[in-house]
Amino acid sequence: MSSLWYFNGIPMAADDLLHHFVPYGRRLLITGCHGLLGRKLHALLAPANIVAGVDLAPQSALSGDRFTYYSLDLTQREPVAAVVEEFHPSFILNTAAMTDVDGCEMDKDRCWRLNVLAVENLIRAAKKSNAHLIHLSSDYVFDGRHPPYRETDPTAPLGFYGKSKLAGENALRGAGLPHTIVRTQVLYGVAPDIRSNFVSFVLDKLRQPGELRIVDDQRGTPTLADDLAEGIGRLIQLQREGIYHISGRDSVSRWEFAREIARQFGEDPERILPLKTADLKQNSPRPADSSFSLEKIRRDLSFLPRGIREGLQEYRLQREQLQTTHGGETR
Ligand SMILES: NC(=O)c1ccc[n+]([C@@H]2O[C@H](COP(=O)([O-])OP(=O)(O)OC[C@H]3O[C@@H](n4cnc5c(N)ncnc54)[C@H](OP(=O)(O)O)[C@@H]3O)[C@@H](O)[C@H]2O)c1
Repeated sequence: MSSLWYFNGIPMAADDLLHHFVPYGRRLLITGCHGLLGRKLHALLAPANIVAGVDLAPQSALSGDRFTYYSLDLTQREPVAAVVEEFHPSFILNTAAMTDVDGCEMDKDRCWRLNVLAVENLIRAAKKSNAHLIHLSSDYVFDGRHPPYRETDPTAPLGFYGKSKLAGENALRGAGLPHTIVRTQVLYGVAPDIRSNFVSFVLDKLRQPGELRIVDDQRGTPTLADDLAEGIGRLIQLQREGIYHISGRDSVSRWEFAREIARQFGEDPERILPLKTADLKQNSPRPADSSFSLEKIRRDLSFLPRGIREGLQEYRLQREQLQTTHGGETR
C-alpha cells in the first residue's frame, strides 16, 4: 500500500498526488519551447509555474500570465549566461537539439554546436544560478542489439547524432550540478507550427494515392509527447536526478506502427508494405531495436506512459481540436 502525503492538509496517496498535480510555483526555463516537446511542457507547466521559454524565432505565439520569451541562440555562451542570470530558474528543461539524424551526419559541426556546446553553455549558466538541469537525450545512444534498454546499460552509438547526444550527456555527468538525463524516442504529438514527426509523415503519405513502404527492421517504443511532458513534470515534482528512460509502453517496428496509424485514422493498413533499412540508403546508421525498459519510471515515478493505440487516439482527438481552432492542415 502506498504511504500518505499531505497536500494543503489533505491526506492523499502518493499515486493520487502524482496523478493530479503538476509542479507549481517554480521558476522553469524551457529551451526549444517552440518544438514539439517544448510546446507540450509549456502547455502543462505554464499555468501553475513561472515559465520562461527560449527559442530561435524573434517572437513567440506562446502565452501565459507569467510567461516570458527570450529569443536566443543557445550556441552563444554570453547571451545564454545573461538570460539564465536574469531569469534565475530553479530548473532548466533543455529540449533544444538538432534532431535531424541524417542532417547530423552531413553537418557534424552544426550538430556538435547544438547538441554538445549548447549543453556546456547551459551547464556553466546553471551552475552560477544553482539551477537543476533536466536534459533530453535519445535512444540513439544505444546500438540496438540488446533491448529492452535499461538506464544502466552500456551505450554504443552508431551514428553522429547518437554520438553527439552521448557527448551532451557526458558533459552533464561530469559537471557537478544537480541534473537529470531523460532519454526518449520516436516522439509524436500535435501542436501548431512544429516540424513533421513519424505520425504526421505517415498521415501525409496516406493522403496520397498508392502504397507506402515503411521499414520493418527498425523497432522501438514510440512516445506521445504529452506523456513525456508528464513524466518530466513528475521528475521535477519529485526532484529526481540521474538517468531516466521515458517512452511509450509498446515495442513495435516502424511498419507495425504505421499500420496502426492507418487503422486509427480509418485508412487501409494493407496499403503499407514492409521495406528493409538497407534499401533506404539513409546517411546515418540506426539501431535495429532500441526499445526501452520502463521499470525505473514505473517504480520511481509511479508512471507508465500510453501504448500506441491509446496514444494515437489522443493524437487524433487533439488533431481534430487543433484543426477546429487553427483551421487547415496541422501536424
Ligand atoms: N523527436 C524525436 O523523435 C526524438 C527522439 C529522441 C530524442 N529526442 C530528443 O528530445 C528533445 C526534444 O525533441 P523535439 O522533437 O521536441 O525537438 P524539436 O521539435 O526539433 O524542437 C527543438 C527546438 O529547438 C530549437 N532550436 C534549434 N536550435 C536552437 C538554438 N541554437 N538555440 C535555441 N533554440 C534552438 C528549434 O528551433 P528551429 O525549429 O527553428 O530549429 C526547435 O524549436 C531533443 O533533445 C531530442 O534530441 C527527440
